[in-house]
Amino acid sequence: MKQTENKATLSFSNGSPSIELPIYRGSVGPDVVDIRKLYAQTGLFTYDPGFLSTASCQSGITYIDGDKGELLYRGYPIEQLATQCDFLETCHLLLYGNLPDVVGKAKFVKIVTNHTMVNEQMQFFLRGFRRDAHPMAIMTGLVGALSAFYHDSTDINNPEHREISAIRLIAKMPTLVAMAFKYSAGQPYMYPKNSLSYAGNFLHMMFATPCEDYTVNPVLERALDRIFILHADHEQNASTSTVRLCGSSGTNPFAAIAAGVACLWGPAHGGANEACLNMLEDIQRMGGVGKVGEFISQVKDKSSGIKLMGFGHRVYKNYDPRAKLMQETCREVLSALGLQNDPLFKLAMALEKIALEDDYFVQRKLYPNVDFYSGIVQRAIGIPTSLFTAIFALARTVGWIAQLNEMIGDPEYKIGRPRQLYSGAVQRDVLPIASR
Ligand code: SDX
Repeated sequence: MKQTENKATLSFSNGSPSIELPIYRGSVGPDVVDIRKLYAQTGLFTYDPGFLSTASCQSGITYIDGDKGELLYRGYPIEQLATQCDFLETCHLLLYGNLPDVVGKAKFVKIVTNHTMVNEQMQFFLRGFRRDAHPMAIMTGLVGALSAFYHDSTDINNPEHREISAIRLIAKMPTLVAMAFKYSAGQPYMYPKNSLSYAGNFLHMMFATPCEDYTVNPVLERALDRIFILHADHEQNASTSTVRLCGSSGTNPFAAIAAGVACLWGPAHGGANEACLNMLEDIQRMGGVGKVGEFISQVKDKSSGIKLMGFGHRVYKNYDPRAKLMQETCREVLSALGLQNDPLFKLAMALEKIALEDDYFVQRKLYPNVDFYSGIVQRAIGIPTSLFTAIFALARTVGWIAQLNEMIGDPEYKIGRPRQLYSGAVQRDVLPIASR
């Protein structure tokens, strides 16, 4: 980043001396006002709950233009990556800043493939859960537990440890998610099959059984790989910010990623794909497309507390480019499976059409986000609704790690420690209980 000629002058109506704050420019996107010296110079904090106007860090990984609906991973448009690359190439790009050449890709694929198994002891963690435990409860536990198996590489300040932890987490998330699914289904775990692709191996561990061979459907394999690419990173969203704040204490990478898993679970964030599909099924049960108008009216009535899940975004005030690509993937998968007339897909498109023509949504710039169509395509692949967010976590792990490693690799980084506007009781004395 570089300092601009422009400066911000903060002046006060109460006559306090004004101060100047430097303004920095990145390679693209909004400039920033550096307020790091504000408290020392004025005794004031800034106030920005939800961080609507706050840049928490400098990053070179992902750029979003919310007004244009643009998303770049290390400068490459998501539309090009989703159609011309695969997920492991995208992982290489996010981690190291460049797309691999043929040799580099083969090397990266080989090292990831050689870390797909988890320690045999990991299976005993699952036994403690009820069979109907939510997969995100299981994943929050399993990812954190990984740190107990790699004492030789949990020093986040050691670049080699960061590198091998990144590879282990990217390689093992599919194995853990598939184990969570098999556990809930009461089926035996399937070991990774290293002859398969990353997405193909995940389908194998999910749907194969020891009783018969399983053939990966190339259309589903490609669709899943694209779903992973679309979810891989997204700037300083809630779970990535959680991973950065958690990692800033110097804790090990597995613990920091487990914190990201826990945050992603929320319905306002990664849990929206599960909530969106449940919403579509509810509308379908109520009567389908004919009931969309009634449902939209409920959403517009604030007292209902009902939101159109899969719609709206803090940054995108235009169509989320990932939602467009997800809709295309939906069409490909549904037609490949002979499900062109899938009622939920038709319902989702009707809902989108009505919402985008309704002033309530237009005024608030509410568009479909990545979660609106992802559930429909995952359901068509045979993935249970409760596993959707775990798959989001699987894909987002590379983004979390890339952002964590970027932070730790920045010599300027400090432990994150926000302050507050205190509005509680001022000092008072404790009275003996008889006098309270
Ligand atoms: C993800 O940050 C990221 O990058 C996240 C993510 C990623 O890749 O990491 O993109 C993944 O989390 C996508 C978002 C998934 N969440 C949902 O689909 C849940 C439904 N959406 C909302 O809860 C909401 O839109 C948020 C949480 C996504 C964004 O919330 P904001 O930016 O805080 O906006 P807001 O809640 O202040 O809403 C502004 C207005 C409000 O109305 P008014 O007070 O102005 O009258 O829009 C309304 C909201 O009530 N609104 C909605 C709505 N989303 C916002 N009304 C109905 N349905 C919705 N979905």
